[in-house]
Amino acid sequence: MRNKLQQSKWIPALLLSLVFTACGNQEKSNKDIIADNVENAVAQYTLMTDIIEQSGKILNPRTVLEDGSVSYVPIDDWCSGFFPGSMWYLHELTGDKKWEDLAIKYTEDLDSVKHLKWHHDVGFMIGSSYLNGLRISNKQEYKDVIVTAAQSLSTRFRPTVKAIQSWDIRGWQAERGWECPVIIDNMMNLELMFEAAKFSGDSNLYNIAVDHANTTLANHFRADNSCYHVIDYSLTDGSARNKHTAQGYAHESSWARGQAWAIYGYTMCYRYTGDKRYLDHAENVYKFIFNHERLPEDLIPYWDYDAPEIPNEPRDASAAAVTACALYEMSTYIPNSPYKETADKIVESLSSPAYRAEVGTNGNFILMHSVGSIPHGHEIDVPINYADYYFLEALIKKQRLEKGEPIL
Ligand code: GLY
Repeated sequence: MRNKLQQSKWIPALLLSLVFTACGNQEKSNKDIIADNVENAVAQYTLMTDIIEQSGKILNPRTVLEDGSVSYVPIDDWCSGFFPGSMWYLHELTGDKKWEDLAIKYTEDLDSVKHLKWHHDVGFMIGSSYLNGLRISNKQEYKDVIVTAAQSLSTRFRPTVKAIQSWDIRGWQAERGWECPVIIDNMMNLELMFEAAKFSGDSNLYNIAVDHANTTLANHFRADNSCYHVIDYSLTDGSARNKHTAQGYAHESSWARGQAWAIYGYTMCYRYTGDKRYLDHAENVYKFIFNHERLPEDLIPYWDYDAPEIPNEPRDASAAAVTACALYEMSTYIPNSPYKETADKIVESLSSPAYRAEVGTNGNFILMHSVGSIPHGHEIDVPINYADYYFLEALIKKQRLEKGEPIL
């Protein structure tokens, strides 16, 4: 029998050891989830890139079509940066030079995108490819491409509106009666502007990004902090002519990926500006998403929070992956917040067999169950390259946070 003194020493020691064991297990299980996902992603992307390399062509996979074939996109497609971007992230996660070599090859194929001026997505395209090459492998020569691309994007800035016009009035957009459509997704393209402003010293790029963020803050959000997809502005006086959707269920509904672009976009704007209003707003979007009665238990949203047939509606894994990235970053700005825990739960759900494909299936993409655009009848409940890209980004941010390293 232990005496009282021994017991009194033993009990705290036991408690301490339980705490250490619990932390150790937590660390182990976190390590396992990252390592397990990296192993899976490497296996899938090895199969995917082997097929592409063996074709002798430069192909850029975006999704899987109804007939099961992989759809490859031209370099002016808004999704063309995500495939090279995923290879940069695999290089970062593994340190394997093979992924760096592939990332360089598929990034540099996008060189002429820096001159693209007919839509706003140059930020996604050059950001996920060249900007990651600069960050991850210190490719200083990529700065020129990044600055030129940002200057191309700046040609879409409309001073009367104080925002970047997202889409030209052409194709299906021409049927909507819009004058200057600005979509919430456009917030993501501001990262390119902020980065390019740093390298070039061109404060115009910074000012455009800030103006765009402020205009969007003023017009895109409802009282409950959900956002519209498209605000159509008057080019004459800058007023909002229409508050519409393009990819959501209805004008007044909340399209899931739009909410994800919003929370990521304002978190990123806080990173570059230190303007607390942006971080506060990201927190408001968090409250909308995570208090929503139709957000499922596993935190992977339906494609629209107001889709009429919930719970029999497709989920959007891409929205969840984008949101997880934002939450990891928010957790670094706001200690003792629930953000990391929520992001971990999302990553856990996406890592489960419900969303993560078996190796050799799913066109060799990592995640299943994303939605491109239901109103256009495109990409319904399919793998999409940006879901994989942001999932890998979330893994990097989680790993860095848990190692106590800066996440960017
Ligand atoms: N930026 C287009 C989309 O989110 O589908």
